[in-house]
Amino acid sequence: MSRNTEPCLGPKPATHQLRLTPQALPIPASGNQTLLQSAALAGIELMASCRNGSCRACMRRVLSGQVSYRIEWPGLSREEKFQGFILPCVAYPNSDVVLSSTQHLSGD
Ligand code: FES
Repeated sequence: MSRNTEPCLGPKPATHQLRLTPQALPIPASGNQTLLQSAALAGIELMASCRNGSCRACMRRVLSGQVSYRIEWPGLSREEKFQGFILPCVAYPNSDVVLSSTQHLSGD
């Protein structure tokens, strides 16, 4: 007879994979951590400053995958969102995510 000995803590957040370029090795990206936090836990320091979605220092383009935010309106214009830009400091993965390897530079 087998028993489930794990404590009941509610549903576990999904774990996805984060790649910083299409070629890079994937790193684990938990659904309850921002992409910036997941990268840092894997020893990868992405450029960041405020870490609250307002300064835009961390802005990158999503090449594939989906993210969600827990703040009402992260510091992105509607057009930037449409073009696939995200703020990894406040973005949580909803799927495997591939991010561009370079920062967004104004005028790109
Ligand atoms: S670090 Fe400031 S918006 Fe991401």
